[in-house]
Amino acid sequence: MRYDIRPLTISQLDECWRLDQRCFIDGEAYSRETFDYLLTAPEAVSYRAVTSGGVMAGFVVGLVEPDHTGHVTTVGVAPEHRRRNLAKRLMAQVEEGFRKRHVRLVRLEVRALNTPAQKLYESLGYSITQRLPKYYSNGGDGLLMLKSLD
Ligand SMILES: CC(C)(COP(=O)(O)OP(=O)(O)OC[C@H]1O[C@@H](n2cnc3c(N)ncnc32)[C@H](O)[C@@H]1OP(=O)(O)O)[C@@H](O)C(=O)NCCC(=O)NCCS
Repeated sequence: MRYDIRPLTISQLDECWRLDQRCFIDGEAYSRETFDYLLTAPEAVSYRAVTSGGVMAGFVVGLVEPDHTGHVTTVGVAPEHRRRNLAKRLMAQVEEGFRKRHVRLVRLEVRALNTPAQKLYESLGYSITQRLPKYYSNGGDGLLMLKSLD
């Protein structure tokens, strides 16, 4: 199947929110209000992967923080579209968006137990720099990962 990477905007609010709920089944899905904020924030850098039929298969949301680091706040791919390099392509696109905004360092947090996501980030050049005890609301630890952009 062919997928295109396109900007993610407020027009896709409901589709993105619903897809996020299918991706994050551990109670860590964002609320609709959070997506409303993220998709309208001027500092947001967001993309979606779409099928040839126009259905959203994945998304990534990044924010340029006040200290000019890029923060990947969420990335998700629908279960039926996984392992087709969509997350990899979405991450490459958000990094490119960050570069255009003069970001030199990207950070993200990932659950200590989320091995698939850690493998993804490691394959893209991110390194674990810190453990974040009880970072998640249900008490799970997080890991801080960083990558310098060339
Ligand atoms: C993590 C997630 C975004 C990966 O999406 P994806 O489109 O399937 O990932 P890709 O196909 O781009 O994978 C790229 C590489 O990441 C690694 N990877 C991805 N999923 C993996 C898995 N389940 N197990 C091991 N490695 C994995 C592999 O190295 C993979 O390369 P390969 O397929 O050639 O081996 C997806 O599983 C997801 O949405 N999970 C639920 C939400 C989530 O955890 N998001 C991240 C929160 S921090």
